[in-house]
Amino acid sequence: MDLSTRYLGLALRNPVIASASPLSGDLDGVRRLEDCGAAAIVLPSLFEEQLRQEQELAEALSSVGADSSPEASSYFPAASEYRSGAAAYLDLIAKARAAVDIPIVASLNGSTESGWIDYACQIEQAGASALELNIYRIASGPDVRIGEPEADCLALVKAVRARVKLPLAVKLQPSFAAFGALAQGLDAAGADGLVLFNRLYQPDIDLARLRWTNEIALSGANEIRLGLLWVSLLGGRLPRASLAAGSGVETADEVIKFLLAGADAVMTASALLRHGPEHLRTMIAGLETWLAQRGFASVSAIKGLMKHSRGDAEAQERSDYIHSLLGYRGRYVRR
Ligand SMILES: Cc1cc2nc3c(=O)[nH]c(=O)nc-3n(C[C@H](O)[C@H](O)[C@H](O)COP(=O)(O)O)c2cc1C
Repeated sequence: MDLSTRYLGLALRNPVIASASPLSGDLDGVRRLEDCGAAAIVLPSLFEEQLRQEQELAEALSSVGADSSPEASSYFPAASEYRSGAAAYLDLIAKARAAVDIPIVASLNGSTESGWIDYACQIEQAGASALELNIYRIASGPDVRIGEPEADCLALVKAVRARVKLPLAVKLQPSFAAFGALAQGLDAAGADGLVLFNRLYQPDIDLARLRWTNEIALSGANEIRLGLLWVSLLGGRLPRASLAAGSGVETADEVIKFLLAGADAVMTASALLRHGPEHLRTMIAGLETWLAQRGFASVSAIKGLMKHSRGDAEAQERSDYIHSLLGYRGRYVRR
C-alpha cells in the first residue's frame, strides 16, 4: 500500500503529522513520535513574548549581579551568554534533524514584524525542514478595521517569504470572514501550505469558584466539521499551497475524511496527548485497512475524491445549510 503524500513540497511516508504540542518539545519525544509512525513533526511554537521576558530576566539578573559586587557578577551569565529559550529551541531543531529521518517543522508565533523575521531567519539557519507560522490573533479591539487582520496576515507572510527560502506553512484559526480569498492571498504571498485549523483558545468559567479557567480542553472527533468544509472548498484549488487539516483528528476515520475532502496531510495533537504517541500506529493501520478493504492502492487515489464540485460553492453551501435545518428530525420534532 502506498501511503505517501506531499506537503509543503516535502515527501511524506504517510499523511499523519504530529501537530505542535508538548510531545515534540524534546529530543526523546521527537524520536518516539518518529518510531510510532509520524510522517513529520511540528515542534511547539517559539513565542516571541516568552523570549523577550527571558531576555529581560537575564539582563536583570546580570545587572543585579554586576551592581552588588564584582564576585557576585560571576554568578550570573551575561545576557548574551544566557542560554535563552531561543537558543534551546534552535538547538532542538538541529538535534532533531540529526536524530530522525522525517521532516522537522519549526513553529513560530511572533508579535512584532522584526521578531517574526529575525526568528524565522534563525530557524532557517538552524536547519529546520520547514517553518510553520502560527498566526494567532483575536482581533477584538473596536479600532480594528474590517479586513485589517487579513491584510496583516498577508503582509506578514510576504515579509517572511522575502527573507527565508524554507518551505512555509501558515497555521490559521477559523475566525476570518472571507476565508477563501485569504487562502488565495496567502498562496500568492508565498505560503507553501496552510494548516486548517488551529483551535481558538476557549476559556471557561468555574461556577464553584467564580473564576475564569484557562485549562486546555483536548479536542474530540466532532470538531472536524468546520475544517472538513473548508478543506473541501479549497482542496486542489490553490495554485501552490498544499493543505494540512487539523483539529479533531482522533482516529483513522478523521484522517480518511480529511483526505477524501482534499487534504494533502492531517495533523493531530489531542489524540496523541490523550492516548500517547503509540496511537499513531493505530491511526495509520486503520487508514491502510480502510484503503485495502475498498480496493484503493494509495492515499493519492482517495485525495479529494469527495471535495466540493467546482461551480457556485456559495450557492451550494447555502442550499445545504437550508436543507440541513429543514431536514432536522428528532425526538421532539417530527415533520
Ligand atoms: C497542550 C497543547 C499545546 C499546544 N501547543 C501548540 C504550540 O505550541 N503551537 C501551535 O501552533 N499549536 C499548539 N497546539 C495546538 C495543536 O497543535 C493543534 O493545532 C490543536 O490542538 C488542534 O489539533 P487537535 O484537535 O489534534 O488537538 C497545542 C495544543 C495542545 C493541546
